[in-house]
Amino acid sequence: MEETLHRLQTEAETAFTAVSSLVELEEIRVKYLGRKGLLANTMKQLGQAASEDRPRLGQLANAVKQEVESLFFARKEALEVGSLPPKQALDLSLPGRFVPFGKLHPVTQVMEEICAVFEGMGFAVAEGPDVETDHYNFEALNIPAHHPARDMHDTFYVSDSLLLRTHTSTMQARIMEKQEPPLRYIAPGKVYRCDSDITHTPMFHQVEGFLVDRQVSFADLKGVLTLFTNRIFDGDLPLRFRPSFFPFTEPSAEVDIACVICKGAGCRVCKQTGWIEILGAGMIDPEVMKMVGYDSEQFSGFAFGLGVERIAMLKYGIDDIRLYYENDLRFLRQF
Ligand code: DAH
Repeated sequence: MEETLHRLQTEAETAFTAVSSLVELEEIRVKYLGRKGLLANTMKQLGQAASEDRPRLGQLANAVKQEVESLFFARKEALEVGSLPPKQALDLSLPGRFVPFGKLHPVTQVMEEICAVFEGMGFAVAEGPDVETDHYNFEALNIPAHHPARDMHDTFYVSDSLLLRTHTSTMQARIMEKQEPPLRYIAPGKVYRCDSDITHTPMFHQVEGFLVDRQVSFADLKGVLTLFTNRIFDGDLPLRFRPSFFPFTEPSAEVDIACVICKGAGCRVCKQTGWIEILGAGMIDPEVMKMVGYDSEQFSGFAFGLGVERIAMLKYGIDDIRLYYENDLRFLRQF
């Protein structure tokens, strides 16, 4: 038995030293060190040895096993790293470890993008309160009490004279009454309407924009909006101005962009029309100018208001506005 043990040790040492792959290493481990391996089998014969030899043989068997084991571990480590050619030891093509990081909400991202485009055209950014007076939300925009246009707004009232603003147009009078023309502003922010379905949420975001100066014309409005849409949608999509009505602009228009999905050919998103409405706009009504003390003979201006969620939906092909506010990380992580 003593001889067998010595022989196995030598054999195992030779085998482990010659091994060149982890698969082969495992085969040799099973052969010598496995539960039914050669060493285990030899050790079973210990019972048959003469009792005075047993302690010595037992010690020898354990020593041999330990030797072979430590050789196995040494080879394993060497094969795993050390013995690899240097290029593979540090594999630069392996993907890095994922470090989770936070991102801005898609609505915030698009809002920032919209502001950046207008800032590039010289517009200043102003913000105002979400809880607004009836005066700035309606009266100053030529929407007196009982005007039918109030119906369109589904207003949340806080009290008789306070409400959650239904649009960011509130900033027109707030800014104009404090400053003289020329001025060029955008006002981004939250607005509220009592409405909820796949295209409406009770809170959403708008960016209002307006410019007042001498001899501002509808052509200026068209130029600014065309440049804006080309920047935001990264292309050369035509705009269409449809006559419309808003109490604070005259003339007023609803502006459509050639469908960003089908480029005007007609699809499900544009309901086969080739056009998608993206904003409301017009020339500031002389009545609004008068209320803030501007001389509408000397000055003219244009204004526009756009929905940020809507622009983001078109930009990213999102078909349900509620996705923005469910905070499902699988959705949010895509932006
Ligand atoms: N305030 C309007 C709304 O929320 C949008 C709008 C339309 C703003 C025309 C304007 C405008 O400045 O000229 O529906």
